Amino acid sequence: MRNNIERVLIDRATIAKRVEAMALQIAEDMRASGDPDRQLTIIAILTGSLIFLSDLIRHMPFMLRLKLITVSSYPGKAMSTQGPRIEGNMPESFAGQHVVILDDILDSGKTIEMVRGLVQQRDPASIRICALLRKQIPSAMAVKAEYVGFEIADEFVVGYGLDYDGYYRNLPDIVTLKAEAIR
Ligand code: IMP
Ligand code: MG
Repeated sequence: MRNNIERVLIDRATIAKRVEAMALQIAEDMRASGDPDRQLTIIAILTGSLIFLSDLIRHMPFMLRLKLITVSSYPGKAMSTQGPRIEGNMPESFAGQHVVILDDILDSGKTIEMVRGLVQQRDPASIRICALLRKQIPSAMAVKAEYVGFEIADEFVVGYGLDYDGYYRNLPDIVTLKAEAIR
């Protein structure tokens, strides 16, 4: 696995510091909203946000709830015209809840916008978007996102939850892969 790494883009210590700062920012914004405890629901888009989620919430020492969802995009198949689809079910209502939607990376932005739309229909008190990474491309930069960990160039990255063909999620750093490893 390590032989396939081209270079480390963001190392584990840098990720850890930034994730803690993001958690503090979310906590501060919750306090500023003036709403009492217990009103935060984090909707995490699996599988890519799994490690980010688990690190982030351990810096949030207050009452919160989690909802895990999976979105499939059917890349390269006929169904791709339908765009990303959610697997599993959403709660019927988020009334009174401040919802934070969590994803690993903003690329086309389609996944996040689809989930945002579904949450919006369910009457939340607020919706905010939190992504660990955002590619510096127009589609991703156009997404209104309150919390972004790192902005990166338009290249394919893996590690810290992000995969290539299901692999590399367990790498502690965010890395690029050698050309021969991605074909
Ligand atoms: P979007 O809907 O195009 O913004 O896609 C976001 C999803 O595509 C992410 O949740 C990732 O699963 C995947 N993705 C996009 N770019 C990368 C990358 O550089 N590495 C790994 N996965 C990526
Ligand atoms: Mg993903």
